[in-house]
Parts: sequence; C-alpha cells; structure tokens
Amino acid sequence: MVNKCLFPVAGYGTRFLPATKSMPKEMLPVVNKPLVQYGVEEAIEAGMQDISFITGRGKRAIADHFDISYELEHQIQGTGKEDYLASIRNVLDQGCFSFTRQREMKGLGHAILTGENMIGDNPFGVILSDDLCINQSGDGIMSQMVKLYEQFRCSIVAIMEVPEDQVHKYGVIKGDAMKDGLYRIDSMVEKPKQEDAPSNLAIIGRYILTPDIFNILKDTQPGKNGEIQITDALLKQAERGLVLGYKFQGKRFDCGSVDGFVEATNFCYENIYNAK
Ligand code: G1P
Repeated sequence: MVNKCLFPVAGYGTRFLPATKSMPKEMLPVVNKPLVQYGVEEAIEAGMQDISFITGRGKRAIADHFDISYELEHQIQGTGKEDYLASIRNVLDQGCFSFTRQREMKGLGHAILTGENMIGDNPFGVILSDDLCINQSGDGIMSQMVKLYEQFRCSIVAIMEVPEDQVHKYGVIKGDAMKDGLYRIDSMVEKPKQEDAPSNLAIIGRYILTPDIFNILKDTQPGKNGEIQITDALLKQAERGLVLGYKFQGKRFDCGSVDGFVEATNFCYENIYNAK
C-alpha cells in the first residue's frame, strides 16, 4: 500500500508575480479550484490519504484551505451555496494533512528530504502541483502509478515525450522499453542542454519513491543550479535497476508557466466545469 503523498509547495511562483506576491502560487484557481486541490484529489483517488506539505514562508493559505472555515460553513449552512463547498469537504473528509517548513530553498531533493520524518520507512508519492495531470478516461495518473508500484516495488517516475528544444526544462531519462509505455531507466540527467540530452523523455511531476531515497539524498551533493536534485538521487537507484519510467495515460499541463496555466484553465472550463 502506498498511502502517503508529499507535496513540495515552498517555491516562490516568480513567473506569476504580482499575483503571487502575497498568495501561494499553488492557490491560484484553475477555474474555481486552487491548483493544489487538483493534485490532492489525485493523491486521494490513488489511496494516498496521508498528505504532507513541505511549505515555506508565506504559504499559510494552503493550510487554511485544507481546514474547516468555521465562519463560512456557519454562514452558508442550509443554503444552496453549500454545493460550492462540496469538493473541498469531500477532500477534508478523506484526507489527513500535515505541514512542515523547508526553511531554505535548496532544491526539490532537499524539499523531499525535509519530509523524511513525516514519511518514515514507507514508499510514498510525490506530486508537484504545478504539473496538472488529468485523465478523463479512467484512473488518475497517481492511481496508474500505484498499480505499477504494487507489481514492481521500486521507484517510478512519470514521463512524457517533449519537443527536443524543451528538454532543458526537465529531468530527462534514458532507458530500455520493458513493454509499451514502461521503461527500465539506466540513466537520467537534470535539465540537460539539447545536445546532451539522452532522449526526449522528460520527467513529469509525479513520483513514487522507495524510502531508501532519503539516505541517498543525504549524500547527494548540489547539482544543476547549485540545488540538491531528486534526479541525481534517483540516478543512484537507477544504477541498481530500481527506477521505472512510465508514460502515463492522460493530459499534463505545465501550470508553472503562464501559457500552460491558461491552457489548463480553458481545458478545465470546457471539459470539467461546463460538462457537469
Ligand atoms: C522539477 C524536476 C525535474 C522535472 C520537473 C517536472 O523541475 O527537478 O526533473 O522534470 O520538475 O515538472 P522544476 O520544474 O521544479 O524546475
């Protein structure tokens, strides 16, 4: 069973300034729901009820969102407006939420290591909520990955093909196809130049990690951009044949960029909000 999921949410959201000056980027609404709630719903759907946020300064609105707003509940009780709270009430009923702060911004690997106490010696999911992943024709992306974990019991990263001139934005893998859409990874590199990329298969912000990753992270030196990279730690597991890359079913929107965010908004408005 994988029932824990980490959400690194300490990043600044610089690309969305001034909107993110006093509001966490994860709280920006995609139509009528904050970005981070989509990720939390995906985790809960996959059976990960134990949700741990790695937060930072200025992120309190996230903790408030995953709590009762007593005044609001009281005001709208018994009115038609209660329906608007249905999705978040549903999340609150099913999830258990913990928070810890990453005090210094030392990279995604460092953020994940900050969650060690909350995760303990268990396999766990990681969701980067900037990557909004939606599968309208079946299981969510994390659910698909949990099924694979149950079969293979090793770390798994979500991957997708990206145009070659985009590889510099991602962790990029090299691996052997085991079967359709599933690769045994033997090498990976964080944000390579186009000419150095081992393929055009990019890592997307969905991971299932085995807990030995924490000890590996403790020994991982700062890499690309002087940050402790999860990609470098995963490479150590991959060298032992213990990381799979999975080309997931569904769509992914890069909500860390304004273009991707607008695309996600249009998609969700037409296919989820208006399709109700
Ligand atoms: C992070 C990871 C990168 C991965 C990406 C997916 O980068 O370091 O390997 O490909 O997320 O979104 P970031 O986008 O946080 O710079």
